[in-house]
Amino acid sequence: MIISVMNQKGGCGKTTTAWAMASVLRSKGKTVLLVDLDPQVSLSLLLQLDDSRTIADALKGTFDITDVIQTVDDNGDVVAGSAELPLLTESQSQLKRVLKKADKYYDYVIVDSTPTASAVGLAILQATDKLVIPAMAALPVILATRQFKDMVELAKETNPRLDVAGILLVMYDKRGVVTRTLKEIADDVATELGTKVFDTSIRKGIAVEEAWASFKGLLEHAPNSNPAVDYVDFVKELGV
Ligand SMILES: Nc1ncnc2c1ncn2[C@@H]1O[C@H](COP(=O)(O)OP(=O)(O)OP(=O)(O)O)[C@@H](O)[C@H]1O
Ligand SMILES: [Mg+2]
Repeated sequence: MIISVMNQKGGCGKTTTAWAMASVLRSKGKTVLLVDLDPQVSLSLLLQLDDSRTIADALKGTFDITDVIQTVDDNGDVVAGSAELPLLTESQSQLKRVLKKADKYYDYVIVDSTPTASAVGLAILQATDKLVIPAMAALPVILATRQFKDMVELAKETNPRLDVAGILLVMYDKRGVVTRTLKEIADDVATELGTKVFDTSIRKGIAVEEAWASFKGLLEHAPNSNPAVDYVDFVKELGV
């Protein structure tokens, strides 16, 4: 199953969600491949991946996807991203084939994606089974999530099975009055996208930055931290 984590807004928890989901699924004994499809290559930098073999090589056909997979201690199997990605206009059409091939070897392929409405973003959605839309719990982020509608509809023309699983509120404080209003607005945006806001939201926690800094997965680093507990609940709710 190919699960993509995408939002056209920057800094809204995409990379953290993709990486945390991979950690949760690994802790359940599943095989997971995390793929960095953001040309900013944040995930690859955070995990200190070798940039001599990247997704760009697999798309260009220089290497098979299985030959660009790197295994990282405490973070499992990962494919490095490439800043070249938006320039590979001809090879972007290979994305679906390449991801589907990887999917044969793993229970889950989890894609961290670009924060722009781009050809790469569309190509990712065309290969996706389930789309998770993280949204940092702030009004501009929630409202910007609306812009997704056009791209999702376009992707559905060639990928009618694309399941927009829902909006995941990240760094959400359930107790606040202001955040209650945010939840209502998020519900409206989700309805426009033909989906829902997940009941589970992800609390803020220092464990996220600490885990990144120690090059560990979230559950490998701090399984009892608030974000880890919330991501476990989220994966349960996602029902994969
Ligand atoms: N639950 C959390 N608790 C604390 N910090 C968090 C949490 N989730 C994300 N962060 C932090 O917020 C910042 C932005 O998150 P992240 O990098 O996942 O967003 P992004 O959408 O991938 O950003 P970009 O658009 O730049 O790719 C990061 O510094 C990350 O460590
Ligand atoms: Mg990111």
